[in-house]
Amino acid sequence: MGQITTCIFDAYGTLFDVNAAARAVAAMPGQGAFAGIWEQIAADWRAKQLQYTWLRTLTGAHCDFWQVTQDGLDWALERAGHQDPPLRAQLLDLYLTLPAYPEAAGVLAALKKAGISAAILSNGSPDMLAAAVTSAALGDLLDDVLSVEDVARFKPHPSVYDLVGARFGTTPDQVLFVSSNGWDIAGAAAYGFQTIWINRAGDPVDRMPGRPDRIARDLTAVPAHLGI
Ligand code: LAC
Repeated sequence: MGQITTCIFDAYGTLFDVNAAARAVAAMPGQGAFAGIWEQIAADWRAKQLQYTWLRTLTGAHCDFWQVTQDGLDWALERAGHQDPPLRAQLLDLYLTLPAYPEAAGVLAALKKAGISAAILSNGSPDMLAAAVTSAALGDLLDDVLSVEDVARFKPHPSVYDLVGARFGTTPDQVLFVSSNGWDIAGAAAYGFQTIWINRAGDPVDRMPGRPDRIARDLTAVPAHLGI
């Protein structure tokens, strides 16, 4: 294994809590009906958002992640019979300022102190990622924020992972790739990155050729893995 010089993070679900928008709206006064169904809507929203990324890359019909985020939400709200334009707008607004997981800033600070480059590589559009990084105050802790929009294909297309070497001059074995998405880890591992799967949900490993080098419950495993 190469010496790790660069640590690359997925954004949604890895650094930022993707369910926080629906959870926050469900806790608001007057949202009793939504409070009873928010978990299903959040799960459908995420599942459809991701399915649309894969389908659009496979069919050559790319659009940006903000579009599939809206499309996934619309599918989820229609399935739940809960189409409510003000609620939709509120959920999308909150998606732009998702909170970071509590350990994220400390982990990025440890990497910075150890002289390891750190960046995001995400399906998110540049505008979405800039909004999330700013609202979570992670900007000073990251060397860069890379978006799939530079190749107009979604993960796990290998051309997305090529963006890391193009930016940092790394070979794949010098990169530690960190994601909570098992399918993203499978893609990154097959590409040749070292990988840590942040398995927050305790899910089984995806049955794909690329397997994670390490599995952990949260991001604190990253500095531990690197011995920093
Ligand atoms: C991302 C999605 C996959 O940030 O979570 O790329």
